[in-house]
This record gives sequence, C-alpha cells and structure tokens, in this order.
Amino acid sequence: MQKVYLDNAATTALRPEVVSVMTEVLQNEFGNASSTHQFGQASKSILERCRKDIAKQFNAAPGEIIFTSGGTEADNLILQSAVRDLGVQTIITSAIEHHAVLHTVEALANHHDVALEFVAITDSGAIDLDHLTQLLASQENPSRVLVSLMHINNEIGSILPLKEVADLCKSFGAYFHSDTVQSAGHYTLDFAEIPIDFAVVAAHKFHGPKGIGFAFIRKNSGLTPMILGGAQERGMRAGTEPVYAVAGMAKALELAYANLNQERVYVTELKTHFIEGLNNIPGIRFNGPCRDLAKSTYTLVNIGLPINAEKAVMLLFQLDLKGIACSQGSACQSGSSGGSHVLMALASVDNPPMPSLRFSFSIYNTKDEIDYTLKALQEYILASA
Ligand SMILES: Cc1ncc(COP(=O)(O)O)c(C=O)c1O
Repeated sequence: MQKVYLDNAATTALRPEVVSVMTEVLQNEFGNASSTHQFGQASKSILERCRKDIAKQFNAAPGEIIFTSGGTEADNLILQSAVRDLGVQTIITSAIEHHAVLHTVEALANHHDVALEFVAITDSGAIDLDHLTQLLASQENPSRVLVSLMHINNEIGSILPLKEVADLCKSFGAYFHSDTVQSAGHYTLDFAEIPIDFAVVAAHKFHGPKGIGFAFIRKNSGLTPMILGGAQERGMRAGTEPVYAVAGMAKALELAYANLNQERVYVTELKTHFIEGLNNIPGIRFNGPCRDLAKSTYTLVNIGLPINAEKAVMLLFQLDLKGIACSQGSACQSGSSGGSHVLMALASVDNPPMPSLRFSFSIYNTKDEIDYTLKALQEYILASA
C-alpha cells in the first residue's frame, strides 16, 4: 500500500544525515557533559560546538540558547519564569496560540496575580495589530506586560510580522515572547535584527529528533530556571543533556538553512498543486489565510469539508486506510473530544466552523502523493454529497 505522510506540522521524518550524526554520538560519546574527565569533556565539547552552530543560525549568542525537551517546555520555562522573575502582571496573547502557551498562561492567571488580555483575530485569521497597539497603549505599566504571540500558526498557517510586533512591543517597553516552533528551520530568524526577548524551537518540526528543542532567552533577561537540580545549561535548566539529540538538532538546522531556498520552492509547489486540485472539489473551504501564499506558511493547508462531522471522522479513517496521514485541525486534537480552539476562534455566524482537515508538507512528499490524496478526497466527498 502507498504511504503518504502529510502531517509534517505534527512532526517530520528524520533526515538520514541527522540519524548518522546521532548514531555516531550515541555510539562513541556517551560521557556526561558535566563530568570533568575526558569522556565528559568530549561530550561537553560537542554540546558547546552545537550550541555555537545553532546560535549562529539565529544570529544569537551561544549563551542565549538553552536546550530543553522541546517547544512545550521552552514555552513553559519562559512564561512561568517571566511571571515569577520579571514581575509580569499582564500577559497579552491570542485565542489561536498553541496549547503550550494557552494552557500555561491560563494556569498563570489562575494561580498568580496575572491578568490575561486577548488580541482580536481578523477575519482572515491574522492578529489584529491595531488592537494589539490599543491594548499596549491602555496598559498602566507596560514594563510589567508580556506579549506572547506565535510566529506561524500550526493549524491555519497564518504568519505574524515578527519584527513589526517586536518593534511595537519594544516601543512600549513590553516584553515579547514568540512561539517560533513552526517557523524555525522553515524561515530565517535573525534575533539580532528582531528585538524579541524570548523564542522557542523544537527540532522535530524540521527533520530533527523529538524530545529536544531550545528556548532563546535574550542575554541579561533576569529569568531563573523552572526545572531545578544541577547547574546544566548555565544554570537555566537542570538535567543531564542528551548530547546525541542536540547534535541531531544542530545537523537538522544546518541542513534546513543550507537548503532553505530550494526546499521552500519545492514545498511551495506541492502546496500550490494541492490547492489547485482542491479548487476542483465543490464546497471545500480554506480555513484562515492558508490559500494565500503571501499570508500563510508554505508548509500547510487547512480545509473545511462540505460533509457532516460524522462523515469527516470516517474520511480521516478512510484516508488512513489508503495510507494517507493528515490531521483533524491539529495533531494535538487527536484523541480529544473537543474541536480545534483555533478554528472555533475564527468562526462567526456568517462563517460557522466546518469539519476540517490539516495537510502539511515536507521535502519528502511528491506531486504523485498529492494527486493520490486529491483523488481519495474527491471520491469520498462526491460520494458523501
Ligand atoms: C506552535 C507549536 N508550539 C509548541 C509545540 C510543542 O512542541 P513540542 O512538541 O516540542 O513540545 C508545537 C507542537 O505541535 C507547536 O506546533
């Protein structure tokens, strides 16, 4: 049976070069990077070389890269520590953030004296920058405000103008955190040019391993660790570092950025081809801005289906039987009974939510796979109409 993996926003396949680097480190460099003997120092030197290489990709200083178990932990570290250490009293965020941010800020609001404010979302699924400006302007003490807005939305692909928002926050003296999990490795991120305080990366979104990522924490931020124990990660995150995973992440990033332009062209062609095919299926709706290549990431498409919810669940199942993997809204929704909070936030009386599927692409997909998927979708939807 043909296997077609179109769930690359959930996670990606490892590049073979990444597997080689990790295997080499796993086999030969098992020392604990905190040990002072030669075994430890060999691991330490790989760890610090990777930190330097990774920092360079983002025009950051090595000390600003704190390795974590992934995006969720990095978001938690930044948000929780910002409230505790920086005296943040208000968090301005949006209803379309990933749960790693939303659930964390909700818990902070419930358990600490933190106010939450939500920026409006435009009809096309973008952050309303005029409203953000108004919210910032209405703050009594903007230096106690943290803005947390993701760069690329993992469900609908909308793109936040990162530099513009960072400049805006800076002009008010507010802190700015962005979940850049879906953009790192897919877009250039220059943290010397963008005056952002905090960002978050997860290796498994760009053909690196799972269970590793990092928090970008601007120098002299004043944050202290969330996980306590040893003095690893310059005292910012206790726990023995998985050097093989860090080496895999560094390799995956190196290759992602070395091949960025050609791979972006290739993946964009896949997305365009998919959209052209979808245009021929009556009743399909594009959720958020994902049909517009200028306003959405080239890596995903999210569509509303002209069928009822039960038939949509069956469709996911049917696609799976044909070897096609995609996701219902977002991977984080699978297994949970609730619908996508992002699509709910976009819904209105004129634009009620529809059963939806997210398809996300990578360099390992082909046009033939897109055609195979389009055929399966078309057959099912026509039969269900
Ligand atoms: C935007 C975004 N933030 C955070 C995460 C969580 O990252 P991780 O799986 O590395 O914890 C994800 C993963 O789906 C994501 O898409």
